Amino acid sequence: MTASEAGSKNSLSVRDNRTGKDYELEILEGDVIRAGDLRQIRVNAGDFGMMAYDPAFTNTASTRSTITEIDGEKGILRYRGYPIEELAEKSSFLEVAYLILKGELPTKDALSQFVEDVTTHTYVHQNITKLLSAFRYDAHAMGMMISSVAGLSTFYPEAKDIGDPRTRWIQMVRLLAKMPTIAAFTYRHHRGLPYVFPENELSYTANFLNMLFRIGVTQFRPNPVLERALDILFILHADHEQNCSTTAMRVIGSSRGEPYSALAGAMSALWGPLHGGANEAVLRMLTEIGDVKNVPSFIASVKAGERRLMGFGHRVYKAYDPRANVIKRTAHEVFQVTGRNPLLDIAVELEKIALGEDYFVSRNLYPNVDFYSGLIYEAMGFPVEMFPVLFAIPRTVGWLAQWEEMLLDKEQKIARPRQVYRGSPQRAYVPIGKRG
Ligand code: CMC
Repeated sequence: MTASEAGSKNSLSVRDNRTGKDYELEILEGDVIRAGDLRQIRVNAGDFGMMAYDPAFTNTASTRSTITEIDGEKGILRYRGYPIEELAEKSSFLEVAYLILKGELPTKDALSQFVEDVTTHTYVHQNITKLLSAFRYDAHAMGMMISSVAGLSTFYPEAKDIGDPRTRWIQMVRLLAKMPTIAAFTYRHHRGLPYVFPENELSYTANFLNMLFRIGVTQFRPNPVLERALDILFILHADHEQNCSTTAMRVIGSSRGEPYSALAGAMSALWGPLHGGANEAVLRMLTEIGDVKNVPSFIASVKAGERRLMGFGHRVYKAYDPRANVIKRTAHEVFQVTGRNPLLDIAVELEKIALGEDYFVSRNLYPNVDFYSGLIYEAMGFPVEMFPVLFAIPRTVGWLAQWEEMLLDKEQKIARPRQVYRGSPQRAYVPIGKRG
């Protein structure tokens, strides 16, 4: 069919000016075409065909997903259709985890069963503590976490049976349950403190805080405001559709291996300063600025392109990150308990100046989830090395839901992008003695 015959159909007409040929590409939904449909566009019969060149996948949808919806222009984030603000206000983290993993909010019975399942899988094999003891006292918590999670795969060899829904579910529960335990153990290792083992009568976040901070008492009960604040932060971080680490999880999982190694890979992707390591980078940046009076010169260096304002900007959000709004509110509640973090003044001043500067406004750079979260974590007593870990624990939910969605998606195959080769054409091999 020619372009003119296509008329008002749900299709895209393309003319290849090299050949004068017209093509009609189906528009699937929204403004989406199949990249594979471009392959019919070719000059000669033997050609590979047209490809889309998209470094960093900035304009490529790699999947259809039903988990998380983001409207970056409007600053909207929803899990399974529910607005993040409402979930943060009304739900617990485990309730949200169930929603993300199963697709629906749980009934009362389903939730208590899920909470019990997670609670009774929080212990790790004693050998994980031996693995941790091999690390230096100053090892980064994420490095220890990544190794331990990869190591978990060796304790659960049945996990490779990824075609069995029940086996998949057990690994998901295990991972969700054990992440806080391993995270707390990395912290205790760093501090040279004996490990505190999980307590079943505590909530997910209270248990985590207990394993982290209990010293010299038989019973440690965290302040309920801090326990809830951490729960809210976990809800906000639970999923964020096809970001760098989630894409890593899907890509690794697409080779059909077990989920522990894939999750360790996703954590590695998260660790970098442009992704989940940004909260740590924000704290270091605020500490380096040191005083409100140094903010203008810092902003000037950012505008001069010498550095980035960490915790600002986002690939998808071109408005205020909705998670940052909730975090800002939560920060004030936390500071009423812990006392005001002195770095808050610097952060507020940075935000105020940045939002009034054309450099940031014209590039749609607003605070993201990481801008204020580090201040809360620090006020709660977490060292900066733990910040990416505090991101990884809740994001485990999203990684696992996205992994399973990928496995069940009939259209997915092993991930394998193409390249445009720009290296040398074939050349004659030169023996080592004759090379210049
Ligand atoms: N400070 C200063 N300039 C920035 C910043 C920033 N934080 N972010 C982007 N820009 C500029 C960038 O220099 C570029 O300017 P120009 O057009 O003149 O070259 C323009 O804005 C577009 O930037 P980009 O790097 O092309 O945008 P991106 O979509 O590739 O990057 C980002 C997104 C999040 C990596 C980036 O905004 C950034 O590095 N932010 C700081 C790190 C950070 O806070 N990361 C946490 C992201 S939210 C949590 C998560 O999901 O992981």
